[in-house]
Amino acid sequence: MKTRKLGTQGLEVSTIGLGCMGMSEFYGHSNEADSLSALAVAIEQGVSLWDTSDIYGPKTNEELLGKFFKQNPTQRDKVVLATKFGIMRDAQGDFMGINGSPEYIRKACDASLKRLGVEQIDLYYQHRMDPNVPIEETVGAMGELVKAGKVAYLGLSEAGSDTLIRANKEFPISVLQSEYSLWSRQLEAKILPTCKSLGIGLVAYSPLGRGFLTGAIKSRADLDKDDWRLNNPRFSKENFEQNLTLVNHIKELAITKNCTPAQLALAWITHQDESYVSIPGTRSTQRLKENALAANIILTTEDLARVSDMLLSQEIHGSRYPEQMMAALEN
Ligand SMILES: NC(=O)c1ccc[n+]([C@@H]2O[C@H](COP(=O)([O-])OP(=O)(O)OC[C@H]3O[C@@H](n4cnc5c(N)ncnc54)[C@H](OP(=O)(O)O)[C@@H]3O)[C@@H](O)[C@H]2O)c1
Repeated sequence: MKTRKLGTQGLEVSTIGLGCMGMSEFYGHSNEADSLSALAVAIEQGVSLWDTSDIYGPKTNEELLGKFFKQNPTQRDKVVLATKFGIMRDAQGDFMGINGSPEYIRKACDASLKRLGVEQIDLYYQHRMDPNVPIEETVGAMGELVKAGKVAYLGLSEAGSDTLIRANKEFPISVLQSEYSLWSRQLEAKILPTCKSLGIGLVAYSPLGRGFLTGAIKSRADLDKDDWRLNNPRFSKENFEQNLTLVNHIKELAITKNCTPAQLALAWITHQDESYVSIPGTRSTQRLKENALAANIILTTEDLARVSDMLLSQEIHGSRYPEQMMAALEN
């Protein structure tokens, strides 16, 4: 597995990481034994950047990783462990708002460290920006966690350009984690150039379009009844069908490269800039291996031009989150 440097503070991670969210929630039924096996295979494959958050589960996703490290204490050093704070949910999972206050951050960090069963979080993100707390105050408190040795590097998720500039002045930010994929390119106009100028790396989340871009989800009926994607506008009855045209084009391009659509989608991200990595989510050891191999795919200038032409001809139907969740995104 190839690695890349993110930010200018020394963070180095696998080009293809692992999103652990679906192992606990949102994308239908999951099984702990399979998830633990997938984590073991990730280590074998050198997929070292593991992504979780205190809201996945809620909390049970961090506990799952904690269980893995308890069972495999010698593997902790092989993982760059990333988690997030800032979105509050109650025990029933209901959304309770966003909190970026220093007091909340200190408590959230201690609770994550405990659930993960580790002494340090390698990469700690603010999950969503709190409009009621100046970013300087939030990042100041995050910086204190670095000074205390509880956290090694800092990131922001779904932050806009101005926030990144202000945050980075307060304490060095290594990473922006935001949605970025063949069907989510909203960062390109302003935010990615800002990251470039500040030396901040990108961790692209939902790089497979929540599974849609792989072609594996052929209709809404393929999703479990409680699957969160059924409420995502891009997966609505009307939009799902229309967005399939894009998937068909991705499949055609993947055939020309002798790779799978998932691999093409991931390789496209890593070819945009050497400071970009992605964290495809999967519960399957087989798909994990398939995704890891995307790090070896080389797209030529002609391949990339073909993808660009294809994207120019495609309209994406539906926003990337339901309306009330879009309000928490700074782009
Ligand atoms: N910062 C944020 O606000 C935020 C938001 C969302 C997600 N994230 C993070 O980003 C990670 C990845 O995003 P995501 O899980 O939303 O979306 P994703 O990585 O775009 O897609 C995940 C979906 O694709 C399927 N899949 C994975 N590899 C596949 C392959 N090779 N072929 C066919 N299907 C495949 C998975 O199913 P199986 O599990 O069945 O393989 C899963 O349903 C999450 O796990 C989470 O850690 C962060």
